[in-house]
Amino acid sequence: MSVTVRVPAKVNVQLAVGAARPDGFHDLANVFLAVGLYDEITVTPADELRVTCDGPDADQVPLDRTNLAARAAEALAGRYGRSPGVHIHIAKDIPVAGGMAGGSADGAGALVACDALWQTGASRDELLDICAELGSDVPFSLVGGAALGIGRGEQLTPLEVGGTFHWVFAMAGRGLSTPAVFREFDRLGEGTDLPEPVASQELLAALAKGDPDALAAAVSNDLQPAALSLFPELAGTLAAGRAAGALTALVSGSGPTTAFLVRDPESAAAVAQALLASGTCRTVRTASGPAPGVTVAAAG
Ligand code: C5P
Repeated sequence: MSVTVRVPAKVNVQLAVGAARPDGFHDLANVFLAVGLYDEITVTPADELRVTCDGPDADQVPLDRTNLAARAAEALAGRYGRSPGVHIHIAKDIPVAGGMAGGSADGAGALVACDALWQTGASRDELLDICAELGSDVPFSLVGGAALGIGRGEQLTPLEVGGTFHWVFAMAGRGLSTPAVFREFDRLGEGTDLPEPVASQELLAALAKGDPDALAAAVSNDLQPAALSLFPELAGTLAAGRAAGALTALVSGSGPTTAFLVRDPESAAAVAQALLASGTCRTVRTASGPAPGVTVAAAG
């Protein structure tokens, strides 16, 4: 018996960040869009908990208990009195430490897969609670589509999306640590009074309409200056994508992956080619969204 699930990556079309809270997290208004780049997680009963990984970035994936997939299995087993003896295999296609929720995807995927394997009978809300304990972006990886996340990003409201948005993603030569980017955000903003983060009504309307021009005009990422400060070369990647005809260019989440919104699959191919030729990134991918959240691909 084994269970395989597929979990999408995300891009943040809006990431509004407030002041640091006493618990060290930041209040966010985080508009997530799931996009069609996927990790596949397969769980199989085993004597003990074990994680393996393959894919282009596999050497950068921790295989110990710090891996969110391992933590998800332990959390579910603990809550439902099961043995966490399971082999979790991650077929990784989402960039590692890229600001596209690759680690969170593996956490949500392992949780759903182990839940199906162990038949715990957990409700979706119970699974979402465990996701929120695992990390701020993990609940969204489970639900997919598009959603507004408030609090530290884990309190989700699904959003209506009226069309398909086409994207190009440029992967950088190294990763960025999310806590480090938030720390840089705090350092750059020291002494300024930050407003409460709120979702942009223009942005929500653009998503609902499925209008790429309106979405391009409304995207924003408050972490972008911090990511650029830690990784100045990203400015060259953003400029190369804009010059190649992207409707807009932004850092995805805490970066360093950069995201380019384009009008259609043809312009995606052209922008992707120009970005590669510019020599300002390691590799490029095209994907569209919204994509569904965790889906069970095979069980048996
Ligand atoms: O929730 P998650 O474990 O993904 O967060 C990773 C780190 O990102 C946190 O330890 C914190 O430094 C930062 N973070 C934050 N505010 C948020 C989400 C994450 O400061 N809302």
